[in-house]
Amino acid sequence: MNNTNALSNCRLGFIGCGVMAEAIIAGLLRKQLVSPEQIVGSHPRTIRREELHVKYGILMVEDNKEAALAVAPAESDGGSLLVLAVKPQRLRRVLQELKGSTHQDQLVVSVVAGATIATIADELMHAAVVRTMPNTPAQIGEGVTAWTPSVAVNEKQEHQVRAMLDALGITVRVDNERQIDMATALSATGPTYIFLVMEALIDAGVHMGFSRHVAQELVHQTMLGAILFARESHKHPAELRNMVTSPGGTSAEAIYQMEKGSLRTVLSKAVWAAYQRAEALGERPPKQGER
Ligand SMILES: NC(=O)c1ccc[n+]([C@@H]2O[C@H](COP(=O)([O-])OP(=O)(O)OC[C@H]3O[C@@H](n4cnc5c(N)ncnc54)[C@H](OP(=O)(O)O)[C@@H]3O)[C@@H](O)[C@H]2O)c1
Repeated sequence: MNNTNALSNCRLGFIGCGVMAEAIIAGLLRKQLVSPEQIVGSHPRTIRREELHVKYGILMVEDNKEAALAVAPAESDGGSLLVLAVKPQRLRRVLQELKGSTHQDQLVVSVVAGATIATIADELMHAAVVRTMPNTPAQIGEGVTAWTPSVAVNEKQEHQVRAMLDALGITVRVDNERQIDMATALSATGPTYIFLVMEALIDAGVHMGFSRHVAQELVHQTMLGAILFARESHKHPAELRNMVTSPGGTSAEAIYQMEKGSLRTVLSKAVWAAYQRAEALGERPPKQGER
């Protein structure tokens, strides 16, 4: 079964239609993987419900339970995905609300950071759950989403969730939830590392005397070009780096300073710290303000 067909006749419910749910909805409709009639979203605020209804032509309801029931699978139809997309601190209440409203053939998909499959399955008394970890470039369809299913998820549902997540960019199925925490540190937190390096390089350009606008253009295209080049060449980054490092040249001098400043170690420590934080957040309910 290919992913394009996987969602035909599938019903999709979105609980909490903020940034991430909208990114999925917009991507699905842009790629014509589903039609607006297949989607129902819930949101507590009238203005937001009207906004999404006008923008995408989807049905928006106030009540989370109503959204779940509206997309329940009917006899011999194409299945149903119920996407939990609220902030972590709202999840427990939403799960309590939804308890008893999910259909046994429905697949519950969570994009909520730190919420384990066991928590969701226990609270909802629902076995088929997929946990995902997208990242912010998903908002322009250039994200990468790690995901892992519970044992109750069947092959058809796996195809459907993969097809839905394709709307956000690339998907990577990982073996367990430990690897979701690892992806949280590497790819979901990843844009933060890149943005910091980007900012530092732009500032370095300004320090030399470029206007901020010119420095930004030079850095953006350099980063983008380097990534596309690395991807297309299939070469190890060290090999690519060696290709442009001539004896006594500018790259050699710059690399010496970066190694002296322990850039590699700092990045490794940052990713490790983010991983430990992701694990810790999964062990207790998140507090107000945590993502
Ligand atoms: N954004 C990302 O790039 C990203 C990346 C990885 C993971 N995630 C995860 O995705 C989830 C959603 O994040 P987000 O960035 O989309 O957050 P968001 O924009 O705040 O979306 C959550 C939405 O849920 C609404 N809401 C609040 N209480 C609700 C309730 N009781 N029932 C239904 N909806 C309710 C919120 O309404 P109000 O606007 O009125 O508060 C908000 O619009 C989070 O758990 C986050 O960890 C996000």
